[in-house]
Amino acid sequence: MLPTLPTASTMNTPHFFQLHRIDDHALAAEAAAGLQASPAQVSPKFFYDPLGSRLFDAITALDEYYPTRTEAAIFEANAPAIVEAVQALTGLRPVMVDLGAGNCAKAARLFPVLQPRRYVAVDISVSFLHQALQGLQREHPAMDLVGVGLDFSSRLQLPADLVDGPALVFYPGSSIGNFAPDDALRLLREARALAGGGGLLIGVDLVKPTALLEAAYDDALGVTAAFNLNLLNHLNRLLGADFDLRGWRHVALFNAPESRIEMHLQARAATTVRWPGAERHFEAGERVHTENSYKWTPEGFAALLRDAGFARVQRWSDAQGWFGVFLAGG
Ligand code: AVI
Repeated sequence: MLPTLPTASTMNTPHFFQLHRIDDHALAAEAAAGLQASPAQVSPKFFYDPLGSRLFDAITALDEYYPTRTEAAIFEANAPAIVEAVQALTGLRPVMVDLGAGNCAKAARLFPVLQPRRYVAVDISVSFLHQALQGLQREHPAMDLVGVGLDFSSRLQLPADLVDGPALVFYPGSSIGNFAPDDALRLLREARALAGGGGLLIGVDLVKPTALLEAAYDDALGVTAAFNLNLLNHLNRLLGADFDLRGWRHVALFNAPESRIEMHLQARAATTVRWPGAERHFEAGERVHTENSYKWTPEGFAALLRDAGFARVQRWSDAQGWFGVFLAGG
């Protein structure tokens, strides 16, 4: 028997909105100010040009980079229990809001059990979401799919008619680790407001031995080094700068007192980098700080969720306790 294909009347089409303007001049000014600071620092958002996004995908496939596969295994092993706990907060068929959705693959794996009535994928640029949502619409013809371009790192707020009723806010991948604790707290508070009495399902990388952490951010193949160095290519294009990548090396270290992996780019020799209207001299060994990736204890992250106003916190983990999937509600 032939499968029943969706007809024009049962097939929805995704809707797309860009909620903020992507302003290359403002981005260039921000990057230039960071390079002029002492110590120099550049936001990790500058990793994600087209090549940087592909290098990040490659990182997630590395043996040393345990977070992606560990989180996926936690979801696979616990999907029925997680979805039951989510539905206890949101009711059946919630609106699902996916923060930093990218290719939407992690959320889509929950669709068969969660069956959201609307899926709102949020990413910094709505153009990242077109292909993924069009593909998802073919697989789920009746689902209401919305793509939103929003830089939620400064403020997470969506139009009220997109999220009507208790929602599930989904933030996997331990991207919360790229926020300093105060900023993470602000984002969790905004996620709670957005959930409107529903829940937040969030993946968090946990504290573990330093050697495992440092290997995950300095792999033998050098993919993370390439990901870090590619930021200089991005700055060369954005600013018209003249960074010579061969003059810089990748540094990844665990800062135990701050409980965070730090990534830096270190000048191999003294050098002066120039771009239109400005320059910055670096001494040999001087660094540009490019990323923090905070590692939480289970208790520390549960306390952060409670500080953000969530009254109920549940957690699922792997056997080694390397990664936590937290569901927060109330
Ligand atoms: C996106 N984020 C959660 C990654 C992390 O582990 O902090 C980014 C990354 N940087 C180096 N490797 C991966």
